[in-house]
Amino acid sequence: MNFESLKIGKYTIPKPIIQGGMGVGISWDQLAGTVSSEGGLGVVSSVGTGYFEDKKYSKKLVAQRPLDAINFYSPTGFKAIHDSARKICGDKPLAANILYAINDYGRVVKDACEAGFNIIITGAGLPTNMPEFTEGYPDVALVPIVSSAKALKIICKRWQKRYNRLPDAVILEGPKSGGHQGFSYEQCKLPENQLEMLVEPVVEEAAKWGNIPVIAAGGVWDNDDIQEMMRLGASGVQMGTRFIGTHECDAHSNFKDILIAAKKDDIQLMASPVGYPAQGVVTNLTHLVEKREGPDIKCISNCVAPCNRGVEAKAVGFCIADRLSDAYLGNKETGLFFSGTNGYRLTGLISVKELLTKLTQGE
Ligand SMILES: Cc1cc2nc3c(=O)[nH]c(=O)nc-3n(C[C@H](O)[C@H](O)[C@H](O)COP(=O)(O)O)c2cc1C
Repeated sequence: MNFESLKIGKYTIPKPIIQGGMGVGISWDQLAGTVSSEGGLGVVSSVGTGYFEDKKYSKKLVAQRPLDAINFYSPTGFKAIHDSARKICGDKPLAANILYAINDYGRVVKDACEAGFNIIITGAGLPTNMPEFTEGYPDVALVPIVSSAKALKIICKRWQKRYNRLPDAVILEGPKSGGHQGFSYEQCKLPENQLEMLVEPVVEEAAKWGNIPVIAAGGVWDNDDIQEMMRLGASGVQMGTRFIGTHECDAHSNFKDILIAAKKDDIQLMASPVGYPAQGVVTNLTHLVEKREGPDIKCISNCVAPCNRGVEAKAVGFCIADRLSDAYLGNKETGLFFSGTNGYRLTGLISVKELLTKLTQGE
């Protein structure tokens, strides 16, 4: 089966596969640039850009951590990552992933437009005012991430009324995905919330607004899975975990090793200061946090609004910015290693080119 190309706004993605944004520092210039260059859509994560090139882009550090949102979501770091990715993919479509829950959301969206990204993808909350921040950049395509038809309906209604605009595509993420979920713990386990049950109702809702392309995410692993999603009505897929198993993935080699060594039961949902459960690998950090013996919580980077300056971090037992950054730095003891439920299926590293060939042409 030959997959059709994916249209998002004025952009055409020859291979309908989006490499999901992964922070901190997992999908930056090398991974996103290569995916776009090879015909998929590469997505740069906007999280922790002050850490890019060993904290060179954090103007102010405290205890080796970027101070405040302006340094953690560093505009110059973000731009440097964009420019480096462009050296790989030229003017092919390139996207940025910006979480709605972050502090400085609007400013970071503007930074992305100024840096030159073509498409902005936003999850972790309902981005009801997203178009406000891309004013002056009519060519930048906007793609929210949802977990239900209801969420898509709310976004379309508000955007149409307030901004006379609709999403250029929508990503539907099910509970097998890596990182933060759009569901509570209990909801993640319900049969009706599994991705294969959600695609058709979301495609139906999208059609009511003029056939917004629906991109399915969460647990998509191989060519058969992609075919199944397309059969259900999706126009493309977004995949995260499998891209960690590539040479080009920007994650530290220790991150890749942890995933390759993980067993099925090691990948679990955990509480997070963001307010949604997050999927990742059970490691030394998990045990420390359970015993309330994790690293100090200092809230240096002031990363996400729902954490309320460290109040939630203290309640769940860890700082999300510091722990994800430690994973980026390769610290196996104190890092937090997100993964989708399929992470244990990674057995080694291949090139992005090889992976995209397998995904589009079968194993
Ligand atoms: C390590 C890791 C970090 C992630 N970080 C983000 C993020 O910063 N923003 C986001 O919207 N999604 C994030 N995700 C979700 C992915 O973009 C993707 O949608 C999801 O993992 C798809 O499921 P899969 O991993 O089963 O393919 C992350 C996933 C992983 C595995």
